[in-house]
Amino acid sequence: MSMHDMYLEIKQSPELSGDISLFGAKNAVLVIMASLLLTRGVSRLKNVPASSDVLHMIRLLESLGASIRFDRQKHELVIDTTQVNKWCVKPEIMNKMRASILVLVTLLARFYRADIAFPGGCVIGNRPIDFHVKNFQKMGVEIESKGSYLKAHVRSFIPGELVLEYPSIGATENLLMAAVAAPGSTKIINAALEPEVMDLIAVLQKMGAQIEIQAPATIEVRGGAELKPIEHELVADRLEAGALLLAAAITGGSVHVTNARADHLAVFLLKLEEMGHLVKKGLKSKGIVLEATKSPQAVSFKTSPYPGFPTDLQAPMMALQCLARGRSVIDETVFENRLVHVRELQKMGAQISIEGAKAIITGVDELYGARVIASDIRASCALALAGLAAKGTTIMTGLSHWQRGYDNLHKKLASLGAHVHLYSSTTISPSLENEFQKLSHRY
Ligand code: EPZ
Repeated sequence: MSMHDMYLEIKQSPELSGDISLFGAKNAVLVIMASLLLTRGVSRLKNVPASSDVLHMIRLLESLGASIRFDRQKHELVIDTTQVNKWCVKPEIMNKMRASILVLVTLLARFYRADIAFPGGCVIGNRPIDFHVKNFQKMGVEIESKGSYLKAHVRSFIPGELVLEYPSIGATENLLMAAVAAPGSTKIINAALEPEVMDLIAVLQKMGAQIEIQAPATIEVRGGAELKPIEHELVADRLEAGALLLAAAITGGSVHVTNARADHLAVFLLKLEEMGHLVKKGLKSKGIVLEATKSPQAVSFKTSPYPGFPTDLQAPMMALQCLARGRSVIDETVFENRLVHVRELQKMGAQISIEGAKAIITGVDELYGARVIASDIRASCALALAGLAAKGTTIMTGLSHWQRGYDNLHKKLASLGAHVHLYSSTTISPSLENEFQKLSHRY
């Protein structure tokens, strides 16, 4: 059996119900792990998801000389960067995950040089890094591509004013980490301010950096301070929250996501309410309850940078529109090729047509189980959600994406009443678990 034989079996499920909590955000922990290279010493991260992207970043940091332990029960990660002594990241590590690009700056800040293989693209788009490179050069970084490598070096980062033509998350995070290393004041204008970026800022401030947010969408950094190791509880994963709330909605159930931040999901929750679902937000935006309507109305939306509708919830929300009354138009504006999941939903009986970057969905009364393939992380979530409502059984392969984005989300769904089970040989899925168990035994 190989990765391709591992699959998720999803059967039509009853109304999901119960309380559930979230792990920390995948898209926060990856950049925060990369930022720890700015310090020398032991840091501790809490509520860390045991997903394969986290494992990839652990392997990357270990390849540079860091020593790492993971407490599987407590979801605590302890990272010691004292012995980090390498600045080269091999292609086989870089290709595993685009977020590897986030160590480029922290290696430059530590060694004044970095050799990293080009990060791969993925099905959702070409994903160039031109916004990163243009602004690195403005900060005095000399960067050249040699074969499959990016070779960069810098004498000292030059502070100044940096303007992003688009609020790219990765570019903002990289420039932020360069700015904390640059002696003097740097402004990042038209910056991304997603909750994951804000969590990185909270960590850098804990390390000793001076960072301020100014309107409109400007980050000002006073850099050059020596940065020290930290202890930090990650921001809850709003994308995992979205998946769990949508699972309740598509099965007509009621779920309380106890540590979800409603203020991180404003537009998404608005769309759920427009469909007719009842959404209750906890005190100070902590905790979200969704009570599903039995006759959901279709809604339309356009993805955009935060605080707009997140592109990472576009596919999961599309699954819901497939069974809603009426017509929905979904406009994907962030990535140029993020509608690949449409053909898999069509296999399940969904009525969807595509016009450019828009998907037009006409709601149907029923979906049917089928054999479907997940093409990326969020597509895997969409297909699993559709499977919970579809008649019969859905078999989903392409599970590497599911495991990259989520820590055993199928087990959380099953705890709420879903009929979902991950089947695999002894070779793969347990091995992700084995890898984390091995990291635990170092405790
Ligand atoms: C982050 O990717 C997330 N990944 C993505 O989540 C998420 O979809 C994306 O932001 C948008 O929200 C992580 O945080 C690890 P961008 P990132 O730079 O930083 C273009 C998931 O499912 N662009 O904000 O790579 C780019 O091609 C993943 O968890 C340039 O043209 O996204 C895209 O169209 C998928 N040049 C747009 O900007 C650049 O130099 C937004 O990209 C940089 C980006």
